[in-house]
This record gives sequence, structure tokens and C-alpha cells, in this order.
Amino acid sequence: MPDQRILYLSQSDVVSLGVTMREIVDALEVAFREAGNGRVEMPPKPGVHTRPDAFIHAMPAYIPALRSVGVKWVSGYPDNARRGLPYITGLLILNDDETGLPLSVMDCTWITAMRTGAATALAARYLARPESETIGVLGCGVQGHSNLEALRLLFPLKRVVAYDLEPERLNRFAETAQGWNLEVVKARDPRGAVEGLDLIVTSGPILRTPHATIKAGWWKAGAYASLVDFDSYWDGAAMKEADKFCTDDVPQFEHYRSIGYFQHVPPIHASLGELVAGKKPGRESPHERTIACNLGIALDDMAVAPIVHRRALERGIGTWLDL
Ligand SMILES: NC(=O)c1ccc[n+]([C@@H]2O[C@H](COP(=O)([O-])OP(=O)(O)OC[C@H]3O[C@@H](n4cnc5c(N)ncnc54)[C@H](O)[C@@H]3O)[C@@H](O)[C@H]2O)c1
Repeated sequence: MPDQRILYLSQSDVVSLGVTMREIVDALEVAFREAGNGRVEMPPKPGVHTRPDAFIHAMPAYIPALRSVGVKWVSGYPDNARRGLPYITGLLILNDDETGLPLSVMDCTWITAMRTGAATALAARYLARPESETIGVLGCGVQGHSNLEALRLLFPLKRVVAYDLEPERLNRFAETAQGWNLEVVKARDPRGAVEGLDLIVTSGPILRTPHATIKAGWWKAGAYASLVDFDSYWDGAAMKEADKFCTDDVPQFEHYRSIGYFQHVPPIHASLGELVAGKKPGRESPHERTIACNLGIALDDMAVAPIVHRRALERGIGTWLDL
């Protein structure tokens, strides 16, 4: 009887493996090129919702080129901060592509944080001006950190303007950014973290009814914005100033639209896969305003999971459990 055991990787196991943001951006680039060429399988994610503005999603995907197949079961609970718990938590199951047997169950919190930042940076590689030096981050939690971490790898960033409702979050974010040799300015209001900046990341809570704080006329020509928190932060007229509005997955975007999100967005220019596979153009002039509204899809996670699994096997990390 062949071995029927799974490797359980806790959050600290996953973190201890030291997979780098650079590796994750590169893995996502491969995965999105495959998607752009129609070579992945990824049904839209089903979800259940036990509280308003909360979700638990099932996110399966198969990427043949990476021999990666599995599912992420991930929750997002906005009120968790008040309980001292993370907003995003969950587990990922990686399967064997030949037998279907589960190979590993791993915490997905760190993977989710990292791959989302990586997707912002990957989209920015196609949509932002390469010489972008300044960035505004609105919502300086887990995603604020990982988005900055990824973008600083690909762009010569010098200055970050940060805005958050919680001073303690803002201070922690400022410390991290200073540790990366960035000049940090704490914005007094959201507008200060948008105006005149090359890159803009909004990563506050996702709300069914957007607070739509960012108005038309705030963001400059040539800027790139990543809407990690969907359209929660952006007024429709401001988003419609974009010359190119992109997303990581058009069918999932349309699904969200059909259930009430994204009611005031401009037409979709391209999916991230189409940009990476060269099927649609990215930025074509220094003056364009561009938006990536990445929903966060199973493809991101299943691009990263095999790297984590492989490294854990190499290093003898994790706990073996009988199936
Ligand atoms: N698109 C994706 O792929 C993807 C993936 C993971 C998480 N998310 C979303 O990203 C968002 C952030 O997740 P996180 O894990 O970083 O959560 P987090 O709780 O760590 O950070 C959220 C931060 O936003 C701040 N905040 C709340 N309201 C704000 C406002 N109006 N203006 C500025 N800051 C505000 C909070 O104080 C907190 O610091 C969530 O909406 C989550 O659902 C998206």
C-alpha cells in the first residue's frame, strides 16, 4: 500500500520556509501567462456568508504547467480586529495531479497576504510607469504591508504616503516602510494619500456598499491604482477617469457585479492573464491612468502552494498525518 499521509503545515511552518516575494511574483507571472493562454481550470468561487460583509470562500484551481491542483477555504471577517483575530484566515489543500490524493494541508493566511501583494505588483509591471517613485497606501494592515513589499521590488520607490483610521496600524506600517529605507508621510486625510502619487493601493475593508471616498480629480495622470478592497474606496466618477481598468478574472468580476458589487466601474480593458500573455496591451503612454482591480483568485494560491510544499519537503518541516 503506498504511503497515504498528508503533510500539515501550520502558519509558522509556512512562514519559516522563507519563500520570497520575488519567487511569488515570478510564480504568479507563469500562472497568469497560462491563464491568458487558456491553459488553466478555475471555476468561479462559491461562498457562504454567516455575517454581513463576511465571507467564507472555496477556491479551487488547476494549473497543469505547475502540476498544481487544490483548493483554498478562506474566510474574511471585518469584525475580527475587535476580537484580536486576523481579518483573513483559512486552509489550503494541495492534491496530487495524477491520483487526486491530498498531499498537504497548509495554513493559507500568509500565502493570501503575499500573493495578493504579488498580484498588485505583477499587474503594475504591465500597467504602471516603470519609473514610479511615490505610493499612497490607504488601509495599512496586512495587505498594506504586503502590497508595499511587492511593489518596492519592482519599482524604485522613494516615498510612501500612508493613511489608516487606526494610529497604531499606521505607526507599525511606518516603521516597516522606514526599515525598507522609504520616506514615510502620514496623511491627515485620504486625499493626501492619493493626490500627486504614482501608485495608489486601497486596502481597507471590502464593503458591499462602497464608501466611495476617492473622488474624480484626485489622482494624477500617469498613476496606477490597485483596488485590493474592490471598489469600496473609489467613487464611480473617479474610477471612470481610468484609461484602462483591468481585473484578474473577468467571469468572477461579472459574478460579483451580478450580486451587487462594482455597479459604477468603467468597462474592463483586459484580464491580468491577457496582459501577461501579451493578448491585450498594458500601459501605452506615460499619461494614462490605470487600475488593477484584482479580486484574488485561486490561481494565485495554487501558484504559490507547490513552492511552499516543495520547500517543506526539502527542509523536513511540517507534521505528517495519516489520511
Ligand atoms: N483582492 C484580494 O485578492 C484580497 C486578498 C486578501 C484580502 N483582501 C481584502 O483586503 C482588505 C484588507 O485586508 P487585510 O488582511 O489587510 O486586513 P487588515 O485588517 O489587516 O487591514 C485593514 C486596514 O484597513 C484599515 N481601515 C479600515 N477602514 C479604513 C478606511 N476607511 N481608510 C483607511 N484605512 C481603513 C484598518 O484600520 C486596518 O489597518 C480586506 O478588504 C480584504 O478582504 C483582498
